[in-house]
Amino acid sequence: MKRANEKNLNELQRTREELKQTLKNDFRQVEALMSLFFTTKPDVPLPNTREWAASPDLLKKIAEIVLTKKPELVLEASSGISTLIIAYCLKQLGCGRVVSLEHDLKYAMISQDLILLHGLEKIATVIYAPLEEVAIREKQWLWYSMNKLKLDRPIDLFVIDGPPSLTQKLARYPALPLLFNDLSDNATIILDDGYREDENEIVELWQQEFKQITSELLDLEKGAFIISKHAA
Ligand SMILES: C[S@@+](CC[C@H](N)C(=O)[O-])C[C@H]1O[C@@H](n2cnc3c(N)ncnc32)[C@H](O)[C@@H]1O
Repeated sequence: MKRANEKNLNELQRTREELKQTLKNDFRQVEALMSLFFTTKPDVPLPNTREWAASPDLLKKIAEIVLTKKPELVLEASSGISTLIIAYCLKQLGCGRVVSLEHDLKYAMISQDLILLHGLEKIATVIYAPLEEVAIREKQWLWYSMNKLKLDRPIDLFVIDGPPSLTQKLARYPALPLLFNDLSDNATIILDDGYREDENEIVELWQQEFKQITSELLDLEKGAFIISKHAA
């Protein structure tokens, strides 16, 4: 009886701790969302965050980076609320544009409609870029079709939140091997889902291959790597 009571008490304490952590995290996301609204002042309601979309704490970090680094060109792997946040920040700065690669036609259309709804079409573009096979050092990978991506200047900020992990193992690995030479000398790369094993392995591989980068894992809801490219 005494042992059963102790077990119940331990379980209760564990549940209480978990609940405290959840509440703490939820509060952090609400704070980040409020800060985002005040910073970007969207003209119409924004789509939902979290689950499939980026979490508010990452979106806030992206907004901070855009507003302080003032990138001329932002490239995104996967479109959604992140595209709108980046575009609102660029609008505030009065310069720069964001191009977002989207492999799914349905979401490419939804994201492009959202851009129009928010009046950001001069700043943001979604390119429908289905995943296709590409060879990287004789190994086959899937990556966004690059046919429609015309780069007229180096990429200053690269936000990687796709392709989805279910498409292949280490789904986002091709991003740097394929686009490293298109990055500006002091580019910043943001990789979402930093708490996943795949993303950790991807960053390890990138660090072995590209000596000019350093990385930091941020303690955000899903974890995110901020990777800096340094001039050679
Ligand atoms: C991890 S999500 C990130 C999308 C974007 N970076 C963001 O934070 O808003 C990756 C993919 O989810 C898909 N997606 C976009 N909108 C969606 C929605 N409303 N429901 C489910 N999936 C969606 C798109 O195909 C997108 O490429």
